[in-house]
Amino acid sequence: MTILFTLVTVTACSEPTRFRVLSFFLDGVPEPGSKETLDPGKEVEGTPEVAVATPRPMTRYFAHTPYRENRCAGCHSAETGQLVRSIEDGLCLNCHRKLVSDLRFQHGPVAVNDCTTCHHHHTAPFPKLLLQKPVDTCLNCHDKDDLAEGDYHADVATKNCIDCHNPHGGDDKFFLRPGRNKP
Ligand code: HEC
Ligand code: HEC
Ligand code: HEC
Ligand code: HEC
Ligand code: HEC
Repeated sequence: MTILFTLVTVTACSEPTRFRVLSFFLDGVPEPGSKETLDPGKEVEGTPEVAVATPRPMTRYFAHTPYRENRCAGCHSAETGQLVRSIEDGLCLNCHRKLVSDLRFQHGPVAVNDCTTCHHHHTAPFPKLLLQKPVDTCLNCHDKDDLAEGDYHADVATKNCIDCHNPHGGDDKFFLRPGRNKP
C-alpha cells in the first residue's frame, strides 16, 4: 500500500502520467479535464471498485474536491501514504465538523463516523460522492416493510427518502427537514 502510494505520488509530476498510473491501480479515476465528472445527475454505469490491477473502460465519476485538486495531504501523510487520521477517529470531520456539530440528533452511522458506508472518499458514481442512489443507500439498513405506516411512507421505494429526512441528523429524532412533519 505504501509502495503503491509512493509510486503514485512520485509519478504525480504530470497530470496525464498520474492519470495513467492511478487508473491502472484505481478504477474510476476521473479523466483529466473531464467536466462530465462533475455534472450532477449523469447516467453512470457499473459500480465503484478500488485497487483493481487491471485497466478497465472509463466510467464517469464524481470526484471529491481535495482529491480532484491533488490535495492528497489533506488525508494522507506525504511521507508514508498512511491516513493522517482513521475514518473511525473522524478523518472526515477534520474538514466537515460543522456538518455534524450543529445536529441535535445524529443519525446512527454518522454518530460513529461511519461516513464511508454511504460515501466514497475519492470518487463515486452518484452525486455527493454517494456509492448508491439515496433510496438504495437508506434501504441497505432500513427494511421498507418495517417503516412506520403512513401516507408519507406509501410507495416508499419510489420516493426519495432525503426529500423528507436529512441523512445526517436533525433537530428532531426523525431528522425531518423543515416542513416535512407528520401531516
Ligand atoms: C478526503 C480524504 C482523502 C483524500 C483527499 C485523498 N485520499 Fe486517498 N484514501 C482515502 C481513504 C479514506 C482511503 C482508504 C484507506 C483505507 O481503506 O485504509 C484512501 C486510499 C487511497 C489509496 C489506496 C487504494 C484505495 O483507493 O483504497 C491510494 C493509492 C490513495 N488513497 C491515493 C490518493 C491520492 C493519490 C490522492 C490525491 C490525488 C488521495 N488519495 C487523496 C482518503 C483520501
Ligand atoms: C482535507 C479536507 C477534507 C477532508 C478530510 C474531507 N473532505 Fe469532503 N470535501 C472537502 C471539500 C473542500 C469539499 C467541497 C466543499 C464545497 O464545495 O463546498 C468536500 C465535499 C464533500 C462532499 C460533497 C460532495 C459534493 O459533490 O457536493 C462529500 C459527500 C464529502 N466531502 C464527504 C467526505 C467524506 C466522507 C470524508 C471522509 C472520508 C471527507 N469528505 C473528508 C474537503 C474534505
Ligand atoms: C446514511 C448515509 C450517509 C452517511 C452515514 C453520511 N452521509 Fe453524507 N450525505 C448522505 C446523502 C444521501 C447526502 C446527499 C444529501 C442531499 O443531496 O441533500 C449527503 C451529503 C453530504 C455532504 C454534502 C453537503 C450536504 O449536506 O448535502 C457532505 C459534506 C457529507 N455528506 C459528508 C458526510 C460526512 C463527513 C459523514 C460522516 C460524519 C457523512 N456524510 C455520513 C448520506 C450519508
Ligand atoms: C449503515 C446503516 C444505515 C444506513 C445506510 C441508514 N441508516 Fe438510518 N439508522 C441507522 C441506525 C443504526 C439508526 C439508529 C436506530 C435506532 O436508534 O433505533 C438509524 C436511525 C434512523 C432514523 C431515526 C429512527 C428512529 O426511530 O429514531 C431515521 C429517520 C433514519 N435512520 C433514516 C435514514 C435514511 C433517510 C437513510 C438514507 C439516507 C438511512 N437512515 C440510512 C442505520 C442506517
Ligand atoms: C414524504 C416524506 C417522507 C419520505 C419520502 C420518507 N419519510 Fe421516513 N418519515 C417521515 C415522517 C413524517 C416520519 C415520522 C413518523 C412519526 O412521526 O411517527 C418518518 C419516520 C421515519 C423513520 C422512523 C420511524 C420508523 O418508521 O421506524 C424511519 C427509519 C424512516 N422514516 C426512514 C425512511 C426511509 C428509509 C425512507 C425512504 C425509503 C423514508 N423514510 C422516506 C416522512 C418521510
